[in-house]
Amino acid sequence: MAQSILFVCLGNICRSPSAEGVTRALAARRGLDLRLDSAGTGDWHVGKPPYGPMQAAALVRGYDLSGLRARQVSRADFDRFDLILAMDAQNMADLRRLAPGRDAQLRLFTDFAPETGMTEVPDPYFTRDFTGALDLIELCAAGLLDQAGP
Ligand code: 4NP
Repeated sequence: MAQSILFVCLGNICRSPSAEGVTRALAARRGLDLRLDSAGTGDWHVGKPPYGPMQAAALVRGYDLSGLRARQVSRADFDRFDLILAMDAQNMADLRRLAPGRDAQLRLFTDFAPETGMTEVPDPYFTRDFTGALDLIELCAAGLLDQAGP
């Protein structure tokens, strides 16, 4: 099973830091020791904390994202992480272009919540549905940990 997991979205200020924070909290609750991080395919927000409205929605559910800082994904991440989880098909295409031949490490985060019928985590930066994004992220994280668990 994967011991190290990188979550990737476009800006690394909404979906992937939320996925990182939610998965870290759920893993701790299950006593699982995983190395988790997140990154963006874009570089606009490098060094910034997660987007304010995203942080606020996450904090309501007990997820404190305030210590996270955005960074851009790099080819070297494919050597550092067992599994890289894309939030949508565009992230996936960008990751494939960044590291050709490394598809075995790449999955869509929504693959872990097939019961939802979702094939991407819609970007709340544009939809403004931060709680809906968290609902889906919680389901994906739980499914991920069901596979990662002992
Ligand atoms: P994320 O959302 O990919 O979930 O972090 C975005 C945040 C900001 C931008 C794009 C996506 N942006 O273009 O600034």
